[in-house]
Amino acid sequence: MLPLEIRKMTMEDLEQVMEIEHSSFPYPWSRASFEKELRHNGYACYFVAGLSKNGQVVGYAGSWILFGEAHITTLAVHPSYRRAGIGSALLNSLMETACSLGACQVFLEVRDSNGAARTLYEKFGFKIKGVRKKYYLDEDALVMTRDFSPAGP
Ligand SMILES: CC(C)(COP(=O)(O)OP(=O)(O)OC[C@H]1O[C@@H](n2cnc3c(N)ncnc32)[C@H](O)[C@@H]1OP(=O)(O)O)[C@@H](O)C(=O)NCCC(=O)NCCS
Repeated sequence: MLPLEIRKMTMEDLEQVMEIEHSSFPYPWSRASFEKELRHNGYACYFVAGLSKNGQVVGYAGSWILFGEAHITTLAVHPSYRRAGIGSALLNSLMETACSLGACQVFLEVRDSNGAARTLYEKFGFKIKGVRKKYYLDEDALVMTRDFSPAGP
C-alpha cells in the first residue's frame, strides 16, 4: 500500500475533500454539510487519508458514534488512487475508533448498484440487514451492519 497518514479531518482539508466528493457521488454533499459536521456535530468522527510524501488528501471517511452504535456516513477515495487499500485503511480507522468509543454495532447505507463498496464492506464482515426504499432519490439503499465481538473489530 502507498505510504499514508490517516488523521482527523480539519477545515483545511475541505477543498481537496470536495474535489473527491464531486468525482465520487452523483449527489455530492455540499461544503456546508462537511463544515457543519466538523464544527457542530459532537458525535461526528471524520478522517482523511493523506499521502505521506506530500500530504495530498486521497480519501476520507466519516461516522456518527452514539448510543453504542456507529453509523458510517461517508467513504470515498480519489478515483486515481482506488484499489490501493486506502478505502480499507479508512474503514479500519473508523471501525477501531467506533470500537474504542464503546460501539457494539456499525451500520451504513449503500447503493444496491455499488458493487465496489458492497464488496469492500462484505470483506469487513458487513451483512445486508434491510432495504431503505428510494433512500437516494433514484435508487434504494441496502442497510449493512456488523457487530463487534467483545475483543474488538
Ligand atoms: C468504494 C471505495 C471507497 C473503495 O475504495 P478503495 O480504496 O478502492 O478500496 P480498497 O482498495 O481498500 O479495496 C478493498 C477491496 O474492496 C473490493 N473492491 C474495491 N473496489 C472494487 C471494485 N471496483 N470492484 C470490485 N471490488 C472492489 C475489493 O475486494 C478490494 O480488494 P482487492 O483490491 O484486494 O481486490 C471507492 O471505490 C470509492 O471511493 N467509490 C466511490 C464512492 C463510494 O461509492 N463510496 C461508498 C459509499 S457507500
